[in-house]
Amino acid sequence: MNNRKIGVLASGFGSNLQAIMDAIAQKGLPIEIAVVICDKGDAYALERAKNAGISHVAIVRKECLDKNDFENKIDTVLRAADVELVVLAGFMRILSSGFVSKWKHKNINIHPALLPAFTGLDAQGQALEYGVKVAGCTVHFVDEGMDTGPIILQKAVPVLDDDTHDTLAGRILVQEHLALPEAIELWASDKIEVHGRKVYITK
Ligand code: GAR
Repeated sequence: MNNRKIGVLASGFGSNLQAIMDAIAQKGLPIEIAVVICDKGDAYALERAKNAGISHVAIVRKECLDKNDFENKIDTVLRAADVELVVLAGFMRILSSGFVSKWKHKNINIHPALLPAFTGLDAQGQALEYGVKVAGCTVHFVDEGMDTGPIILQKAVPVLDDDTHDTLAGRILVQEHLALPEAIELWASDKIEVHGRKVYITK
């Protein structure tokens, strides 16, 4: 059976990208990261892709004519690489409805909060500030809203009284590194069904 091809979009450190690469290698998953795309030329995620021999490219927003041009370039690279699933792994830009509709139910995101709480930037800081006792991460399909698409899976962690931003973010990140590869593996095994807002994991 041919490997299922995914494209990973990242903006920075790329630890979630690394978790996907490690899961594929360690579990021998029939999944290939066909391309890594970063919106910053100095993103460490590009270095990780290069070290792993994975095709990678920086598409920098301010070097594009406009958002449409930026997204068209991303779309062109993804299609040229025969990508079936787009994985946002720490990609810190909102994609327009045009892009989102082209990749409907073929585009997933990892967010460091138990959605629908704490959408947008610095979800971990928002959770600490609010005083919740449980935090976590969510893998969801991307829709037109910000972090609002159908939820595939979530993992929870406790928030401790003496947590700092770093300790809480670190505890959540450990779970992100499990959740994102798990969701991708479910997708590659055709075990994900979407009905409206609800996602069912089939046996
Ligand atoms: C992760 O915590 C991810 O959930 C978050 O950015 C970090 C990227 O880390 N994404 C968002 O906040 C998206 N709204 P990484 O570059 O080490 O994978």
